[in-house]
Amino acid sequence: MPHIFVAGASRRVGFETVKRLRASGVTVSCFFRSESERSRVEETGAAVTIVDAFDGAAVGAAIAGAGQLDAIICTLGGKPGDEPRVDFPGAKHCIDAAKTAGINRFLFVTAIGCGDTWDTLEEKAQQFLGPAIKAKNQAEAYLFSSGLDYTVLRPGGLSDDPVTGDGFLTQDVGVLGTVTRADVAAQLVRCLESDKTKGQVYQVLDRNQLRTATPFVEMVL
Ligand SMILES: NC(=O)c1ccc[n+]([C@@H]2O[C@H](COP(=O)([O-])OP(=O)(O)OC[C@H]3O[C@@H](n4cnc5c(N)ncnc54)[C@H](OP(=O)(O)O)[C@@H]3O)[C@@H](O)[C@H]2O)c1
Repeated sequence: MPHIFVAGASRRVGFETVKRLRASGVTVSCFFRSESERSRVEETGAAVTIVDAFDGAAVGAAIAGAGQLDAIICTLGGKPGDEPRVDFPGAKHCIDAAKTAGINRFLFVTAIGCGDTWDTLEEKAQQFLGPAIKAKNQAEAYLFSSGLDYTVLRPGGLSDDPVTGDGFLTQDVGVLGTVTRADVAAQLVRCLESDKTKGQVYQVLDRNQLRTATPFVEMVL
């Protein structure tokens, strides 16, 4: 069975990913900051380390100390108004730790608005999300030049609704809408299982929650 490390696993996409991996018997180790969430995550059978992702040495120790790992999934994210934002330093520390520990596979959740999807966002969203997107762009660029086998998933707006099974991946830009966090987790696990996704960047959306009529092609993995 593979052993996967999830950075940012206390809630939402990270926690949904942990639950999905554990349900299929995958060994999971993870970190986050909130001691209050530890027991809930440990109940899934995942091994938890409490770490602040701003602390590069602590991130390195958590990843090196997890044992033999097959991949790292980074779902770290800051809240609007956070200063400094965790997005870039947190991801950078995970990428550096992956390289040091010799873990080549790295999956990263950013957002629509990054890279060539900036123009997909409406002006109001660009203003609101600008600082977050800037930090995530920095993190994506660091990952692209890392030499790791990366896959980047850029979700549209996230909801906490139950999984729909209608989440999909596309490399076409200009498509906007929402997707549940549970469906993003499902797509992360699909990407983990497909070598085709190495070196690729995808937008993640729900085919029944689109707000644009822009044509797109769904990726078949
Ligand atoms: N909100 C949206 O509509 C939207 C849309 C597209 C993409 N995204 C992005 O998608 C990703 C997942 O979002 P989400 O809403 O599911 O999760 P989230 O609420 O942003 O949670 C992220 C995780 O990161 C952890 N974290 C944050 N700062 C940390 C730090 N300094 N050290 C260690 N852990 C830290 C949090 O745990 P603790 O707080 O317990 O440490 C949590 O487990 C994020 O990158 C987000 O920006 C969000």
